[in-house]
Amino acid sequence: MRHHRIAAIPGDGIGTEVIAAGLEVLAAVASAQGDFDLDITHFPWGSDYYLEHGRMMADDGLDQLRGFDAIYFGAVGSREVPDHVSLWGLRLAICQGFDQYANVRPTRILPGIESPLKLARPEAIDWVIIRENSEGEYSGQGGRSHRGHESEVATEVSIFTRTGVTRIMRFAFTLARSRPRRHLTLITKSNAQRHGMVLWDEIFQEVAAGFPDVSTDRELVDAATTRMVLKPGSLDVMVATNLHADILSDLAAALAGSLGIAPTANLNPEHRFPSMFEPIHGSAFDIIGRGIANPVATFWTGALLLEHLGEPRAAARLMGAIETVTAARLFTPDLGGTATTAEVTRAVVAALRRPVHA
Ligand code: IPM
Ligand code: MG
Repeated sequence: MRHHRIAAIPGDGIGTEVIAAGLEVLAAVASAQGDFDLDITHFPWGSDYYLEHGRMMADDGLDQLRGFDAIYFGAVGSREVPDHVSLWGLRLAICQGFDQYANVRPTRILPGIESPLKLARPEAIDWVIIRENSEGEYSGQGGRSHRGHESEVATEVSIFTRTGVTRIMRFAFTLARSRPRRHLTLITKSNAQRHGMVLWDEIFQEVAAGFPDVSTDRELVDAATTRMVLKPGSLDVMVATNLHADILSDLAAALAGSLGIAPTANLNPEHRFPSMFEPIHGSAFDIIGRGIANPVATFWTGALLLEHLGEPRAAARLMGAIETVTAARLFTPDLGGTATTAEVTRAVVAALRRPVHA
């Protein structure tokens, strides 16, 4: 029996609802497979913790998390705490503290779900966005002076390092190589941003030389949005900076039917630190406590977590169960249905209990 230790950080808003659902589903996969178990420890960090303790997580939070095999994260953000405080105090503190430099965001149109793109056949959208997750526009460099005066100035500095860019390119090429189409698109804004983005172009070329079996092309980020809409089938894996990929992945999620299904993995590919798995959607203030949050993003995220733990059969079984339920069009309101979080969760658990035929 293999054992995996998981830290659960439900965080804020609907994060608590979807992580509860996700843990139920993960427990069901583990018991259906029968050859591994998951030992879950909950951490109550987030905005409520901040209001009580003046910080988003315990002072030694990273030390407490260090020994886990993975982190299952809900969402961060509330009306009571400014977003930049909550985000930097918890999620980015973990991403940067554990050097989770590769953020992986798969997009597919799951069975039963309709894309808002009239012309897109389901198979036209099968993408993975690789988001550089440790530097770029989210490096946290900059400052403000002369606050409140007319002369006030603020800088928000993007940092691109050769080490940081090279490792995300290698990661992206390696992932592209593992997929049937073996195609990687570099997305930048190197016509206007002539320093960091040109470094991205150059390093992309250098790394490409070591992956002759991966075909490549390049797109400026603005043009990438139109290509995603008009020629979705021409894309496979995309690699982009922290901010560009953040924006493109919301578009990708919407084109695949809903932000409520989009998963993500914040990886430290070398396994030197735990990696963190979370749905993309965030806290969703408008639906908190109504029991209608779509848990599919968190389930799909759970499948990424299982893959990372070295449980590919369990991950495939979970994806199969999710797709059985979407194919039956049991949808929460974000997908046009009337099902609750609990109903979708029960249906996925039931699908997991059915024997798998090889
Ligand atoms: C995401 C989210 C976050 C990000 C927000 C909550 C700051 O939009 O994971 O895409 O931009 O990293
Ligand atoms: Mg985002």
